[in-house]
This record gives sequence, C-alpha cells and structure tokens, in this order.
Amino acid sequence: MALDLTAEQKEVGRKNFDVASGSINRRTFLGTAAGAAAAIPLSAGVYFGYQSLGGKPVKTAIIGCGDEGGVLVGEHNPQFVELIAACDIRPFNKNRVLNGDPKVALRKGFIAHYGRARTDEIGAKHFYEDYKKMLDDEKEIEAVIIALPLHLHAEVSIECMKRGKHVLCEKLMAHDITECKAMIKAAKDNNVILSIGHQRHYSMLYAHALEVVNSGVIGDIKHIRAHWHRNNSWPITPEESWVKSSDVLQPVLQDGWYPPIVQEDYTALLKRDDKDGKTSVERYGYKDINELIRWRIFDRTGGGLMAELGSHQLDACSIFLGKVKPLSVMGVGAKSFYGPGKNDRDADDHVFVTFEFPGKNHPLGANKGTDSKDVVIVTYSSISTNGFEKYGECLMGSRGMMVVETESDVYLYKEGQPKKKDEADPKKTMVSVTTAPGGKPAIEASSTWGGPSASAVKADGGASGPVSRGYREEMEHFAYCIRKWDKAKGYAKKDDGKYAQDLPRCHGEVAMADAILALTANLAMKHRTRIEFQPEWFDSASAATPEATFDGKKPA
Ligand SMILES: NC(=O)c1ccc[n+]([C@@H]2O[C@H](COP(=O)([O-])OP(=O)(O)OC[C@H]3O[C@@H](n4cnc5c(N)ncnc54)[C@H](O)[C@@H]3O)[C@@H](O)[C@H]2O)c1
Repeated sequence: MALDLTAEQKEVGRKNFDVASGSINRRTFLGTAAGAAAAIPLSAGVYFGYQSLGGKPVKTAIIGCGDEGGVLVGEHNPQFVELIAACDIRPFNKNRVLNGDPKVALRKGFIAHYGRARTDEIGAKHFYEDYKKMLDDEKEIEAVIIALPLHLHAEVSIECMKRGKHVLCEKLMAHDITECKAMIKAAKDNNVILSIGHQRHYSMLYAHALEVVNSGVIGDIKHIRAHWHRNNSWPITPEESWVKSSDVLQPVLQDGWYPPIVQEDYTALLKRDDKDGKTSVERYGYKDINELIRWRIFDRTGGGLMAELGSHQLDACSIFLGKVKPLSVMGVGAKSFYGPGKNDRDADDHVFVTFEFPGKNHPLGANKGTDSKDVVIVTYSSISTNGFEKYGECLMGSRGMMVVETESDVYLYKEGQPKKKDEADPKKTMVSVTTAPGGKPAIEASSTWGGPSASAVKADGGASGPVSRGYREEMEHFAYCIRKWDKAKGYAKKDDGKYAQDLPRCHGEVAMADAILALTANLAMKHRTRIEFQPEWFDSASAATPEATFDGKKPA
C-alpha cells in the first residue's frame, strides 16, 4: 500500500487510528497518574514528565541560525528556554532569524517571542560571528542550542561542554562515531547535559502511534518500509538577489541542498578583514563559499541522505521496535542524477538500504527470547527524482498496517482475512473502519493525545495550536532536566544500571545509536558489503567504531 492514498482512504485510516487509540486510552492510560487528570487534555509535558520552570527559564544561546536554527527559534518557548544571545556567520540568516521568515510559518524569528525592541538589542549587542567570543562575553549563558553543519557538531559541542554549558545539538549527532563517543565523554567529564535533536522522541503523534503498536492491534511486525522521496529535477529560475560571478556556481535545479548564493552573503563572507587579512569563509575553515552554504552535499562537511533524512526515520523505526540495536545492514547508493553543471555534489542522490533488526522474541529483541529467526526487515529509500509518497514509515504487521505520514498523520488499516466459502471478495475489507462499542468511531478519546505542550494548553483545558512535531517539547524537556540537574551527582547510575538523574529522551547514548545506523549504512553502501553491527560500537566507553573497522580510521 502506498502513502498516496485517496482522501477517503486516509479518512478511514484516521478513524481507525482514533478508534484503536481511543480504546487504549480508556483501557490503560486513564488508569495512570497522568490519566487521573483526564478531564484535561493530556499535554506533552505530562506525558513526557516535565512541568513549568516556575518563571526561571534557562538562559540559552543559539549557535547556527540557518534553516533549522530558525525553526528552533520559532518553536522555542521562552518560559523554558530564554534566548539571550545568538551566533552565525551569514548576514542573510542573521537578518532572517531575528525578523522571521514570512514564507515559513515555523520560522517566526526572535521578533515573535521578544518584540521589536529586544530583538533589535539582541541583533546589535548579543549576536556574534565567533561562538567562543560569545561564550567569553555572555557570562549568563547556561545552555547552548547548536544547529551548525554536521562537521562542526562535535567540535563546538565539546568546547561548550568544557566551558560548563549544557548542550542541545541538532542531529545527526556527529560526523562519525569516534566524535559521538568524544561528545558523550565530554558531557560526563563536565557533568553537563547533552541532548540531540531527533525530535520524534518528543512527538506526541509518535508516542501515540507507539502505544497503539504496543497494544498489538497490528499484530506481529516483520517488516517496516520507510522512505523520503523528493523530486529535485525541476529547473529553477534565477532571481535578482543571486550573485552573478564566475567564481560561484548557482543552482540550475530546485533543490534545498543547493541553495543559491545571494549577494548579501557573498559580499560579507568574502570580504578580507583589515586585521588578519582573512575572509569569513577562510577564518571559519571552509574551502570556499560553496562548501559553507551547501555543506550537506560534501563528504567533508555532511553525511548525505542517510545522515540528513534517513537518520530521522530509522530513529522512528527503532522507536517502534523498542529501541533495540540492529543486527545488520546492506545497501546501494548512487549519484546517478546530479553531476557537472547540474547541482553537482559528493553525496548520492538515491539510496536504498536494508536493515535486519531483532524481533521481540529474538535473543537481542525486546523480550530477550530464544528465537534467533525472529527478525524484522526494515527498508529505507531516499530518492531525489520522484516525489511519489513523500515521506513516512509503513509498519506492516500480521493483523494490520500503520502508516505515519510526514510526522503529522497516522493511518491504521486492518489486514483482510482470507476469503471464506461463499463470502464476498475479501479485498473489500482491506480498508475498513473499525468501530468502537456502539458502532461509533471513538474520536473524542483522541483529544487526550497529540496535544501541544504544557504551555500551549489553555487554562480551560482546551488545546491550542496544531499538533507539534516535537521541537518545542524537546527544548522544554531539555530546560526542565537542566533545572533539576544536580551537578554533584552527574551521571551516577542506580543499581539497575540506569542513570540516577533525568536526562533528555534523546541523550548522547540514544543519539549515538541513531548515528551508528545512518553512518554504518553509508559504509555498507561505500564498500558494497553487508555489515553486522558490533555491540561495542554502541558502548560509549569502548574505542571501537564502525569507521575504525571499515575505513581504518584510528580512534581519537
Ligand atoms: N531536526 C530536524 O528535523 C532538522 C532539520 C533540518 C536540519 N537539521 C540539522 O540542523 C543542522 C543545521 O542545518 P540547517 O538546515 O539549519 O543548515 P543551514 O546551512 O541552513 O544553517 C547552518 C548555519 O550555520 C552557520 N555556520 C556555519 N559555520 C559556522 C560557524 N563556524 N560559526 C557560526 N555559524 C556557522 C551558517 O552560516 C548557517 O546559517 C544540521 O545538523 C542539520 O542536520 C535538523
């Protein structure tokens, strides 16, 4: 079944999901402490276990104010995270993050949260190019949010942690697993919190979908198909603001990874400084302006489709499978479309990878069973020349199928039973509404799910705003963990081996497992081989890494 379902099929799928989730709410969730307040729609804060900071938001700086930095600024809640400083080297992005982007609703800018006067003050006095200078000058900073290109995640996170700052760094955690392990070590050595921005860990939609999967409604999952499909083959029309210079290649195709270079950035980033004689591009370690602005497409600075897109969805797949470690991966990738004169790059434009995960009853599965043949096959494809199906995850169980589409919708379908003698064509029941007792879809129960964050629940208990994708909750919980954090206890463990203090849901070790999935898939494609995951790669205390095994890279 494709994700390009008809509107009617989607409606049926939504209703089925509401019915299934509604009955779970009534059966199990309402019996819990959170459910005791069932008259109030369940907020993400209650679900994820955090509360208001009582007027003491965490004083935070953001480093990297591009596309994603802009989303995080737009989605942050100043009652939890108060942004007091910011850092970026591109004037175009500085202007956009301060004033917002009318074309993208999520990028509201500082202005939406802090008003004109304070936004101007931040822009004039608290906006830096050099993050180290920002940390030197802005003594009040308690935490940083990092939304920089991938190759800078480890270096900048570690420097901030050494200076005692808590860090929320965007995904993918780092450029390789050696760097991930160094980041985890820095968090532990300095007793600060490290969180990584895989926002599905804070999506009520995914939390809700997981509850339905765990209830057994779709039976035994043996296969998950995840994908992110785009068509970047359409030509693009140059605009007035684009630089016209022989030293700059401009896009010829519509492609978010190959944005145009605008005059404003070109002039500022290539201007030689009177003091050190360097341009900003040189000072900040880029080969050229192309590499700075289109960092995703180069091996030195990015990690290709698996790092940028696949990592999110394999994170989701592994959440559905109980966050178990994968068994193996193989795949093929190709740069079969882009090339010279055509938005050229190092990164592949098409990838198809296949993972084996342990099923529940596998010795390495959630139930630690004895059936080594209990394996779940997970396929992932990301393509750049056809947009059919957009992006999502299809969970195929023995009794039904769940489709999570674009982080914003869930559809549930029953698996048709085999035709009995004298029965109508069973295909008619393949997509059918499951009804609650009394024959009605239990839609009202779903209001306790998928709600906005604690702060966005109105005083009367009504919910405001659309379903959150998790960015806001991720930052709120990060701030809550910081306020509760006892530095003296740090990363001490309890008798059961778990950390004694609350950590963000996607803390270093969780995020490192996601990075291992994405980056080992890259190695499997590069070496055209099937790779079996080694347990010590997932152990932050071990120096073993996939890149050491397959690329001969020495541990740091
Ligand atoms: N969680 C998500 O859904 C999601 C979505 C998109 C991107 N991301 C991640 O966010 C990160 C940033 O991606 P993006 O799309 O915002 O990229 P981007 O290129 O739009 O933004 C990066 C910004 O970093 C700035 N920068 C680069 N080097 C710098 C330096 N040395 N000092 C200061 N600023 C510097 C650039 O000027 C730019 O404004 C990446 O790791 C990406 O994977 C996450």
